[in-house]
Amino acid sequence: MNDDEELCVCFHVNRRKVIQYIRVEKPTRVSQLSECFGAGTGCGWCRPFLKQLMEKEHPESVQLPDSETYQNQRRDYRDKVRNIKPRLGP
Ligand code: FES
Repeated sequence: MNDDEELCVCFHVNRRKVIQYIRVEKPTRVSQLSECFGAGTGCGWCRPFLKQLMEKEHPESVQLPDSETYQNQRRDYRDKVRNIKPRLGP
């Protein structure tokens, strides 16, 4: 994935914006990245990747899947989440 590709697909936030936000704002929790154009507040797929970037001193060095793989994995994740049936009472 290059810096111009969407890391948070739900909110169209690219990797460059996330890295810049981390450098400037120095968030300590993934949830704080929601202030970066809503990153991570949709389906939740990107949160582990956002966390990876946050935990590195040099977030630009984090290797993420290529864009096509990333998009396909997200689609599968969303399909799986949508098919989870809520548990009904006892
Ligand atoms: S891809 Fe970021 S919340 Fe869905």
